[in-house]
Amino acid sequence: MKVFHLSVECYPVAKVGGLADVVGALPKYQAKLGWEAAVVMPWYDRPFVRDHAFTVVHEGSFYQGSELLNFTVYKEAEDILGFGLYLIKIPGKLDRQEVYCYADEGEQFMAFQHAVLSWFKEKAIRPDIVHCHDHHVGLIPFLMKYSHDYIHLADVKTVATVHNGQYQGWTTWNKAVLLPAYDSWKWGLLDWDGLINPLAAMIKCCDAYTTVSEGYLEELYVEANGLQQLFYDERDKSVGIVNGIDWEIWDPATDYTLIANYDAKQAFAGKLKNKEALATQYNIDPKLPLLVFIGRFATEKGADLLPDIILELTAKYQGRLGIFILGAGDPAIQSRVKLLVDAGVENLDVFFGYDENLAHWLYASADFLLMPSRVEPCGLNQLYAMKYGTLPVVHRVGGLRDTVIDLDNDGYGVGFDGLTIPVITEAIIRATTFYASKKQFEENQRKMMRLDFSWDKSAAKYISLYNQIM
Ligand code: ADP
Ligand code: GLC
Repeated sequence: MKVFHLSVECYPVAKVGGLADVVGALPKYQAKLGWEAAVVMPWYDRPFVRDHAFTVVHEGSFYQGSELLNFTVYKEAEDILGFGLYLIKIPGKLDRQEVYCYADEGEQFMAFQHAVLSWFKEKAIRPDIVHCHDHHVGLIPFLMKYSHDYIHLADVKTVATVHNGQYQGWTTWNKAVLLPAYDSWKWGLLDWDGLINPLAAMIKCCDAYTTVSEGYLEELYVEANGLQQLFYDERDKSVGIVNGIDWEIWDPATDYTLIANYDAKQAFAGKLKNKEALATQYNIDPKLPLLVFIGRFATEKGADLLPDIILELTAKYQGRLGIFILGAGDPAIQSRVKLLVDAGVENLDVFFGYDENLAHWLYASADFLLMPSRVEPCGLNQLYAMKYGTLPVVHRVGGLRDTVIDLDNDGYGVGFDGLTIPVITEAIIRATTFYASKKQFEENQRKMMRLDFSWDKSAAKYISLYNQIM
């Protein structure tokens, strides 16, 4: 049985966020379960691509509107990732450094999808399942069913995974000419409120759709940036499957990026060594408990609340907690955080930017991870944190509600309801008070590290979904 995952991100080739982590892990665990799994993604001018050997498996061309686009399909030569990795290069369109943020990104994604289908057709490739991740590849289920050019794929089953329903890839109808020819009387399947909406088209046309946690699925039925009715109407083909974490990469006992490795038995001491090393480079006191935030500076992540949270903690809790922020994104949020650092707030440090190794180091050094997300379809940070013995302090939404059980309910983390500064700081103070009960705190670290958020279970759920629809 063969599944092709289509995505614009995949760790370690190109990562912006959790989508990459999932697409870089799920196929590997499906392969362990006996499926032939592959990832198809755009070609990027990035280190992984430059540093590894690729072979050309196909060259072709297609018209995007009146423009003839030539494309090349490359396969990673040694299968070092544990699954087949295919990259599609289109000079001038899919040959850039960044994944997002180009003015013509809608056309880039359309070109990618067109090239994938054209390659499948030319090489008579017929996978058992085509698995589409997020709106960037949302037109695929529609095109497989309703484009005359790709009729040989019409009965191949498609699964759509929604990692984030906020982003839908809308584009105006004048861009329809860039699509492969399709049954024009089916145009309504592409449309939502007068725009081409790839996420909506994906949900309407796929055989099954999944969200990355059960909690998020329930939320999408109620509020999904305008698509809630659609998610609800199509609920019979929906299922929530929580993300896992890739223990080959995220395990403090073997993580080669760490200063000191540790397992559950010597969690506190191992974490302290990492924290002490961190304190030699950054403005934190290793004797204080350390709270970290890691993530995109976006309102979705509640990053805009960080300055006020820091001010409130400084006022109420001065000298009793260290804070480290690692993130990048909205410049307005960044400059407000920077003001606090420049003002010399004690035991506060930041790193503005994206740094994969520093993220690992922080999960290992920290005592608490803060996630004040407004929306969190799953969240991987809290899962990594727990695997590294770091107590998550989270807003109870989506995947955070599903994966972080509160200490008060016999669990292991701290949850809060409502995103006011007093509520959030109260939750942080609750966590730090728990830190003071050293024995219980250390016991809880061991408990979190032994939780099973492995991909084995979730990959098996995807496979049973595939079997159901096939
Ligand atoms: P999202 O995909 O919405 O950003 P997730 O929690 O699913 O959220 O995944 C975020 C991933 O990106 C995690 O692997 C996290 O460690 C990583 N990450 C986020 N911001 C940074 C950063 N500034 N530097 C390094 N890693 C980051
Ligand atoms: C999205 C979501 C995040 C999720 C990730 C991987 O980026 O925002 O919550 O963990 O996808 O599924």
